[in-house]
Amino acid sequence: MTEEKGGSAQRTSLQGYWSSRMAFILAVTGSAVGLGNIWKFPYITGQNGGGAFVLVYLFCVVLVGMPVMMSEILLGRRGRRNPVATMALLGAEEGGSTHWRWIGSMGVLAGILILSYYSVIAGWSLAYIEKSLSGVFSGASSDEVSGIFNMFIGDWKMVAGAHTLFMFLTVFVVARGVERGLEQAVRFMVPALFLLLLALLGYSINTGHFGEGVSYLFTPNWHALTWGTVLIALGQAFFTLSIGMGAIMAYGAYLPEETSITGSAASVVVADTSIAILSALVIFPIVFANGLDSAEGAGLVFHTLPLAFGQMGGGVFFATIFFILLTFAAWTSAIGLMEPAVAWIVESYGRTRAQAAVIVGVLIWAIGLGSVLSFNVLADFKFLNRTIFENVDYLTSNIMLPLGGLLITFFAGWVMCRNSSSDELGGATSIYKIWRFLARWVAPIAILFVFLKAIGWLPEFSG
Ligand code: PFF
Repeated sequence: MTEEKGGSAQRTSLQGYWSSRMAFILAVTGSAVGLGNIWKFPYITGQNGGGAFVLVYLFCVVLVGMPVMMSEILLGRRGRRNPVATMALLGAEEGGSTHWRWIGSMGVLAGILILSYYSVIAGWSLAYIEKSLSGVFSGASSDEVSGIFNMFIGDWKMVAGAHTLFMFLTVFVVARGVERGLEQAVRFMVPALFLLLLALLGYSINTGHFGEGVSYLFTPNWHALTWGTVLIALGQAFFTLSIGMGAIMAYGAYLPEETSITGSAASVVVADTSIAILSALVIFPIVFANGLDSAEGAGLVFHTLPLAFGQMGGGVFFATIFFILLTFAAWTSAIGLMEPAVAWIVESYGRTRAQAAVIVGVLIWAIGLGSVLSFNVLADFKFLNRTIFENVDYLTSNIMLPLGGLLITFFAGWVMCRNSSSDELGGATSIYKIWRFLARWVAPIAILFVFLKAIGWLPEFSG
């Protein structure tokens, strides 16, 4: 690594800047906090046995997620382009090859694939606003709540309709541009979601099964853990933080020079992790109090919370507000999922944002129909023992995002020269040194190791 490498030139963003550090944090938090925290984290924790899985997930967030997020922001700010162009530019400048752009291309593809099913689940949330408002959950038994859910997802036309509406809302916001997006909505949405979850926590504490929920979540049951589940925990860390696919890199491209990357990343990680843990703390006591199946899968949140709302005073009101907030949270995440593809089309093909948003939106909508049908018509159509929805989720969260993260940290830690990275991270401070150690050694090796273990390429330890 020679000292001359790495442009010191400060590039300008092609699509404007965040109005403040807070605006950036809000946008990244908006992207991070979503269905991943409230819908996905509790259900995959339930499918993977609780305690040990949660612990591994937390390790992954801190030791892998945090350095990957910082790397993404710093690469984005250095390149100031869409993820594909940024990686081509920095690759040429720092590593002598524009092939690094494939990291960006994989991210564009991952975003498209994730949003294809994300929008379907967000559609469920949208439909649940209407159901909550109608009062169907008031006093409903657990069987009735399950019946409502199964009837809904069994009707592919309803699910497709909700998916269509959600994609429409997403395209609408993305088409309007960086500053005018949902930035403002996040300002009240995340705190409101947090408060509502706290109120629900009060309910869960009162169910009498709170202790059981806490011990399920925090007492590690190492027997339930396999390398396959470690990979799922790692994938979840990537998914929930929106990292490994260039979304945060795309946001970093609009970040003013003087903003602290470490501070911003830390705020987002803390907010995101607290909301995930809080959701699980709300949901599992309800599962145990009602004898529900903790491993039931993707419907978990849609069974537990309406059941709880149906039993509490003011339940119709709280349930409606909850699903409105959840839909908002999904909406701000969906925007992040579309951003790499849209920024790439705008900058490479000279389209307007609106045109790019429509093109990408229609494509994603069409792919999403595969996930719509996974819960009804094609529920028995399995490949590798998984439905279409499960395959798209597995491929993106557990393979594409960690692989993206591996390459991103490898690039930022090994290919990029020290001057460039320390320049972005505010000089050779001890925080910089910790980041560099994690980015060079811990994150790439951990990801590679878990991959190889999960596919059985490394032998098991004895004992
Ligand atoms: N982090 C989001 C969630 O937890 O719901 C999902 C997501 C959004 C992943 C944006 C990736 C992304 F670029």
